[in-house]
Amino acid sequence: MTADTGQGPLRLHTPFDLRDAPPILPLISPTGSDRIHEVVRAMNAAGVVAVEVTLRHADAIEALRRAAASAPPGMIVGVGTVRTIRQLDEAVAAGAAFMVSPGLDERLAARAAEHRVPYVPGVATPTEVMAAARLGLNVLKFFPAEAMGGVAALKALIEPFPDIAFIPTGGIGEGNLAGYLELPNVWCCGGSWLAPAAELARGDVSAIAGRVDRARAVATAIAVERAKSPPG
Ligand code: 3PG
Repeated sequence: MTADTGQGPLRLHTPFDLRDAPPILPLISPTGSDRIHEVVRAMNAAGVVAVEVTLRHADAIEALRRAAASAPPGMIVGVGTVRTIRQLDEAVAAGAAFMVSPGLDERLAARAAEHRVPYVPGVATPTEVMAAARLGLNVLKFFPAEAMGGVAALKALIEPFPDIAFIPTGGIGEGNLAGYLELPNVWCCGGSWLAPAAELARGDVSAIAGRVDRARAVATAIAVERAKSPPG
């Protein structure tokens, strides 16, 4: 996706390259016993090019390290729920290739820039979008998406912020994915629905690959419709 400001296309500072991959960002919240490397490989085999390992459990950094070390070529492993400089530094050391925060923090943005690692802050209001844009960030997590107005809220941000792309996350699943992906200001959708805790814990890679396949089918159907009627 390339945002258009009305003055020609603007380069988005995307955290990874989606190319022909489905516009989804699976969130993985590992606990110690998860077979995370198998899950990451299965997701990549199903077409996913990036996953976000959230820092929700005590051993998440170790799981991130395992995921990053065993990721197949072409799979980018990032970190989510980053709230402190210490977490950010630890995640970089563990191999995270991009950083996601639930909110916007200037210090985290500066530190990520020092590490030369893309940073995606969470925003939920126009004021926060403006603050992030002032820092030069134009790909933002819209969080918590459903609770903050979902598709209707994102739609209302299209006109005032034609130069910003969003990664809505929070409350997204198979039932409402299409509504988000249809929006021109959605770069991709994030969520934990693609790797639910129980399936992750037992390493149920076929169930997880099935979820990715269904999400990909939704994205493909939207892309086909869009190609039939390109924006005028
Ligand atoms: C996050 O950390 O981004 C959200 O909690 C994910 O929300 P979800 O579990 O509803 O996908």
